[in-house]
Amino acid sequence: MGTSDTIGAQAEVFNYRVVRQFTIATVFWGVVGMAVGVLIAAQLIWPELNFNTPWFSYGRLRPLHTNGVIFAFGGSALFATAYYVVQRTCQVRLFSDKLAAFTFWGWQVVLVAAVITLPLGYTSTKEYAELEWPIDVLITLVWVAFAVVFFGTIAKRRVKHIYVANWFFGSYILTIAVLHIFNNLELPVSMWKSYSVYAGVQDAMVQWWYGHNAVGFFLTTSFLGMMYYFVPKQAERPIYSYRLSIVHFWALAFTYMWAGPHHLLYTSLPDWTQTLGMALSLILLAPSWGGMINGIMTVSGAWHKLRTDPILKFLVVALSFYGMSTFEGSMMSIRTVNALSHYTDWTIGHVHSGALGWVAMITFGSFYYMIPRLYGRTSMASMKLVELHFWVATLGVVLYISSMWIAGVMQGLMWSATGEDGTLTYSFVEAVKATYPFYAIRLMGGLLFLSGMCIMAWNTWKTVKGQPKVNPAVPLYSPDARDPAFIGPASATA
Ligand code: HEM
Ligand code: HEM
Repeated sequence: MGTSDTIGAQAEVFNYRVVRQFTIATVFWGVVGMAVGVLIAAQLIWPELNFNTPWFSYGRLRPLHTNGVIFAFGGSALFATAYYVVQRTCQVRLFSDKLAAFTFWGWQVVLVAAVITLPLGYTSTKEYAELEWPIDVLITLVWVAFAVVFFGTIAKRRVKHIYVANWFFGSYILTIAVLHIFNNLELPVSMWKSYSVYAGVQDAMVQWWYGHNAVGFFLTTSFLGMMYYFVPKQAERPIYSYRLSIVHFWALAFTYMWAGPHHLLYTSLPDWTQTLGMALSLILLAPSWGGMINGIMTVSGAWHKLRTDPILKFLVVALSFYGMSTFEGSMMSIRTVNALSHYTDWTIGHVHSGALGWVAMITFGSFYYMIPRLYGRTSMASMKLVELHFWVATLGVVLYISSMWIAGVMQGLMWSATGEDGTLTYSFVEAVKATYPFYAIRLMGGLLFLSGMCIMAWNTWKTVKGQPKVNPAVPLYSPDARDPAFIGPASATA
């Protein structure tokens, strides 16, 4: 496209419609999913907030929260960015507009079905795979369409090189397909009830092979795809090391697959399997940090921008949380550490340092970069509100995770404390009582994080509705036809 790389021309060449749809869906589901998170955080302090109805009970709303934030908020964000990045870096329109539209509407139907069925109590009972079989079938269809659109676009690309972000997105799409199908093999007994084909310890192992790789590929590898595109773009620097990104990719993809048993330490899972899971989880630290360092070092030379650029702040803080949560996860995989952390709120702290600190923050940064470009605006309606969002969210995560760490370690120690005669020092209720202040702090953190999400929703609305469109003759990007100008070292793009 050369110097004619203008918004008008971009709109013709690329399918931004579906990207915009998923973007708005992300913001919407972010508010919903996090609001449910805040509600269940409040229920842990005031159980009467279930209003004495089964639909609002904690056991039903908790999976609504996890499905809402992972698949509705995170999933929509990944559709949006995968479609955006694959088009930009391959310099072609999506393989099929119709299939892309099907993925949007199909995915929204899945999410609405989740919102209806989970509070009604329909569940397969497998964590992060609670949805019943008719919804599972629809997910499979949408996912196959997603794969066809994504890989079809790669196949018809105009740039020879396949930019590394696409490797991460591609492996996420393939892996989630395999995980979803095998973990959800089930026998339907009625319209809304099915039983897993696996039983006993095999069921547990398949579930956590799925569960851990849902974390590994849905919440990590895919978001690294985001990171590899948006960090170089916003920092206006090429990736620190293209070679490292390739090593990072293969090492991560290989290692994650084996780490699932760290969720089943001290269970009836064969001992050697637990040890293997623990060892591979420790090894996993190396590729995780390789990726984190690659992202952070990409900003080197542009550190001064951090003072003034809230988008870059989001991206760098996200990378820092990625580093911290992966270090923490590897430590928690060690049997003796897990003996303390398992079942406690430490796990919840770990989850949200990854989920809020990494997943949500990298999404916010990437979206603040992408939204103005999708709608032909020069920037978000208010950069001051982006800055405010950054600080509110950061404070929210810090309150959330530090309270859960303290609560978790305290619970672990109280549960295992014994007197000289071997009897337990504390009753369970005493540990629950001691946790209340920390639940209150977590609720405050959650409220701050949710208000940041609402600020983003408002800013997005103002950007889409209120801002004048920029003159399509003004190039938004560098006139370099190769977007990003960061496709890697010259040798890789030749
Ligand atoms: C306002 C923000 C949020 C609040 C207040 C919140 C609150 C909560 C609460 C109270 C729980 C249940 C903890 C328990 O059972 O002890 C929970 C679980 C969970 N949340 Fe969130 N959450 C928020 C955002 C998110 C986001 C953005 C994600 C993912 C991207 C996420 C992923 C999860 C997961 C995976 C669990 C289950 C953890 C486990 O089973 O170990 N949350 N959340
Ligand atoms: C090197 C990387 C990581 C390792 C080795 C790791 C390891 C662990 C371990 C040992 C647990 C506790 C298992 C238990 O005691 O039940 C855990 C739980 C969890 N982690 Fe990680 N973690 C890593 C990164 C992450 C990241 C980046 C995220 C989020 C984006 C994340 C999300 C979760 C979730 C959702 C759970 C709770 C699962 C459940 O019981 O429902 N982890 N992780």
